[in-house]
Parts: sequence; C-alpha cells; structure tokens
Amino acid sequence: MQFTNEELKEKINILKDKLSVTVVAHFYQRDEVFEVGDITGDSLELATRTRDDDAEFVLFCGVGFMGQSVKVLSPHKRVVMPKVACCAMARMIDSMYFDDSIKYMNDHGIVKENILPITYINSNAEVKAKVGEMGGMVCTSSNAKKIITKALEEGKKILFVPDRCLGQNIANDMGLKSCVIGDGTDPKDADVICYNGFCSVHQLFTLDDITFYRKKFPGILIVTHPECDPAICEASDFVGSTSQLIKYIKELPEDQKVAVGTEFNLVNRLRDKNTYVLSSTKPECPTMNETTLEDVYVTLKAIDDGEPINEISIDESTQKWAKIALERMLAL
Ligand code: 13P
Ligand code: SF4
Repeated sequence: MQFTNEELKEKINILKDKLSVTVVAHFYQRDEVFEVGDITGDSLELATRTRDDDAEFVLFCGVGFMGQSVKVLSPHKRVVMPKVACCAMARMIDSMYFDDSIKYMNDHGIVKENILPITYINSNAEVKAKVGEMGGMVCTSSNAKKIITKALEEGKKILFVPDRCLGQNIANDMGLKSCVIGDGTDPKDADVICYNGFCSVHQLFTLDDITFYRKKFPGILIVTHPECDPAICEASDFVGSTSQLIKYIKELPEDQKVAVGTEFNLVNRLRDKNTYVLSSTKPECPTMNETTLEDVYVTLKAIDDGEPINEISIDESTQKWAKIALERMLAL
C-alpha cells in the first residue's frame, strides 16, 4: 500500500515516540527525510552528537561510512540504516588499494616508518583501521588543515587517502607540495602524496560554470567545497566544508548573490533568494538520495517488530583501530 509523505511522517513520529531510537540525517538527504531527523548535521557532527545521545538505536540516514563512524565511536549502540548506500568516493579505496599505495611509496624509496597516513572520513572502517594501525588519523573537510599541520610535526611524508582534491586543496592552501599517486611526480619531492580518488558529484562544477555566473551576475560570490577540483577552488571566493559553507552563506547580506558548488539538496534549502547551484547539471549525490521516507518507516517498523534490518556490525580488530584513528582526530 502506498502512503503519502504526510501519512508516512505521521507513522514515523508515532514509532519514534514509542521506540528508543534517534533518527539522524545528513545535510545531503532529501528534504522530507531531513525533516524527520532528530539530529541533523555534517558527518563529523553526526558521529560526535550521537555519541552523547542515550537512545538504544541510531537510525542513520546517510551513506555507509557515516553509519560505520557512529558504530566505531559508539560500539554499544545499535546502528541501523534505511539504505546502506555507499559513497562513491569511499568505494574507490579498500584495504588492498591502501596497501598498494604504501608499496608505491616504498618502491620510490620511502620506507613505511617515514609514512604517516591520513584518511578523509569518507572511507570505510577497514581503511580507517589500517591508518590507525600505522599511527595515522582521520580528518574531515572542516579540520583537514589542522590534522595535516599536526601530522607534519612528525617530519614524515603524508599519504592522504582517498580524495586527491581535498588533499591537494589543503596542500595548496598551506603552501605544501603535493602529488597524486601515478601522476609521474616522484613522491620523495612532495610533502603530501594523494591517492587518486574523487567525488563524482563535486567534479561536476567547471570553470565554465564560474565564468557563466560571474558574467551573468557581476559581484556574485562563488563558494565551493574542497572536494571540487583544485582549479575550481582556486577560482572561488570561499572554499569550505559543509558546515563552513552554511555558516558563510547564512552570514551574507540578504541581497548578496552567491553560486554554490556542493550537493543540491543542501544548496536548495540554504536561503530563499539569491542563491544558485554552480552547475548546469543538478549535482545530486545519487547514494545520499537513495534513502526515502518509506525506507525510514520500514526500518523503524522492523525495530518495532523486534527484527531490525540493515544493522551495522564491525569486527573487533577493525573496530579497535578505526576508533583509534577517529579518536586521534577528535583529540585535536
Ligand atoms: P561532510 O563531512 O561535510 O558531512 O561531507 C561529507 C561528504 O560526503 C561531502 O561530500
Ligand atoms: Fe560521497 Fe560525493 Fe556523495 Fe559526498 S557527495 S557522499 S563524497 S559521493
């Protein structure tokens, strides 16, 4: 039987009142899913805020690595996801590709002891665990600069996985030399050696889009996320993580036009007027959009029926090392 969104919301609210469950939704979720979130935010906020929440279940509306981060940081919680959708960037690296990247650096004369790995939070728990075991840590787009600054104190080469754009953008911002594995640069000549992963959504923004908006609306501000290509970030007026972009845009005068290079659902609910999506294509994250209101209802119903579905579980060793990598970041 098909329900309208209003009917589904009503059913969801009844189950939320009855069950010990917190519904968590990332900023990139569809509007109707975002609206039923008890906790909303970026990936880091969601992982840390659910840690302080005392419901038995976390129903996580987002992508797989985010639900895993909640489970890693709060192993006693039961984390279920309406859709275990996998972020396309996180899927670009696994523990085997991680080992290959270490080998690539070894083959270029950089021994393991001289490598400090940093993984963007957009990676699965196995990769975070590998990083943790090697003394490295996790970063998000909000704190990547701080984490790299700290890591450089150890005087080692930084292996940055999986997002080459974030790694290069931060390196450029800090005046460091970066390279991408396989680009022909000797990694010994770089401070930050980036894995060749990327976000397909944030690759949609082009220099032509920026030229178009600057011509159409002289004085418009271009703001982008650091998952965009370095050439795009270089041509932007402001570059920031999801939370930083929201704060920046909310503080602009109402009549200031702005074109934003990040995920559509977020941009769409930022401001009523004078806000444009920096693309001729709708930059929706396909995996974030997989979760529907009906999925949220079905997942709550399964908890109510005593047979939870799509529950996240992580083996003990992965859990231990991934937690260490995440906690090293939180300690900073
Ligand atoms: P946040 O860490 O800002 O939530 O972003 C994650 C992400 O997937 C951005 O594309
Ligand atoms: Fe992953 Fe890109 Fe979607 Fe973010 S927008 S969840 S990086 S695919």
